Amino acid sequence: MNVSAETAPALEELRARASALDTADPLAAQRERFVLPDDIVYLDGNSLGALPAAVPGALADVVHRQWGTGLIRSWNEHQWWQAPLRVGDLIGRLLGAAPGQTVAGDSTTVQLFNGLTAAARLRPGRRLMLTDPGHFPTDQYIADSVARLLGLEVRWVAVDDLARCLAEQGHEVAVAGYSPVDYRTGELHDMAAVTSAVQEAGGLMLWDLCHAAGALPVRLDELGVDLAVGCGYKFLSGGPGAPAFIYIARRHQAAVDQPLTGWNGHAEPFGLSGDYTPAPGVERARIGTPPILSLLALEAALTAFDGIDMEQIRAKSLSLTGFFTDCADTLLDELGFTVVTPREPHRRGSQVALRHPDAYPLVRALAARGVIGDMRAPDLLRFGVNALYVSHRDMLTAVRHLREAVAHGEHRDPRFLRRAAVT
Ligand SMILES: Cc1ncc(COP(=O)(O)O)c(C=O)c1O
Repeated sequence: MNVSAETAPALEELRARASALDTADPLAAQRERFVLPDDIVYLDGNSLGALPAAVPGALADVVHRQWGTGLIRSWNEHQWWQAPLRVGDLIGRLLGAAPGQTVAGDSTTVQLFNGLTAAARLRPGRRLMLTDPGHFPTDQYIADSVARLLGLEVRWVAVDDLARCLAEQGHEVAVAGYSPVDYRTGELHDMAAVTSAVQEAGGLMLWDLCHAAGALPVRLDELGVDLAVGCGYKFLSGGPGAPAFIYIARRHQAAVDQPLTGWNGHAEPFGLSGDYTPAPGVERARIGTPPILSLLALEAALTAFDGIDMEQIRAKSLSLTGFFTDCADTLLDELGFTVVTPREPHRRGSQVALRHPDAYPLVRALAARGVIGDMRAPDLLRFGVNALYVSHRDMLTAVRHLREAVAHGEHRDPRFLRRAAVT
């Protein structure tokens, strides 16, 4: 790769830093728990996690032996029936949730619908739902739909304005639905402060953990969070369309009245009664027959976290994103990029976002060079880091390629301007 004479010493210094940081990295060996092509720098694990090495064999066993030979007997013999709770508990460990509070299944969108509705029903007489105007679209659509169904009103309040809103109308708030990490900028909000502010006003707190689960410690039990949902396919690396999860704090479970009253959540599913009696615990958050292949792929994927503490993951993730930002400051100066992710470690999640007017073709040009990130409209390049398989060297390689792609005008190639169905 070409580098101008003036950046050569800075590049040398960055290279030496990357090498020292990677040598001292206690998680470096975890990359072997994933199948990743050698010639790819994968910085899109915040959209679709890489393939954990344990998954192909586990899935082959589920398909050939458990399904192919065991047939319907495997619901009992291989505990398929218990999988939503078993996988839920594995996820719960990563979320600081004691067993018996998390269920895996369905999509984040479905879990959001169930969770927001159930939360609002736990606060009858309160007419407001709060959510972020910059929230991921599905969170906005579902909040709006739940509010219309229950005759509530959505207030679109940014996290920074929450205190003011709660001071004025907190007594009317039934539930607040927020994400700790802004999916575009990677900004991390103070979960403890937001949770207690909402609860002090008498409302319930529901967190969407899509960009936090498996990426950073969230301490659900310790913070006294009421409900949480999240997906299985980003930092949990459960595969495309992996089952999502819902967490319902134990203290709420007996009273939770969830709207999707499927037979799997019944107290006695095989009693086949025509009347719905919810299961006593978090089992009531089950809906219909779970997608066993996907669920067991997710279960195998979660072994990538065996023996690893979320604090270790957080420490490395911050080191990676901090180093990425340093590389960008040094190598992308005056090339039209702005780092939009907060620089203070306690204010950033596990990604770095750069603003550039040519974000889309640049992401495509980078991918052609083997560096995979993604774009969020209109002008953000997102680079997610999964500390289990990304190195500091990857950070430097990505930024160097970005510099070269811009310098050579590669993003002006017409084939990179055409939008694919998924950006
Ligand atoms: C914060 C957030 N919530 C929800 C979703 C997606 O919901 P679903 O898993 O139902 O597609 C995403 C997807 O990127 C997300 O970032």
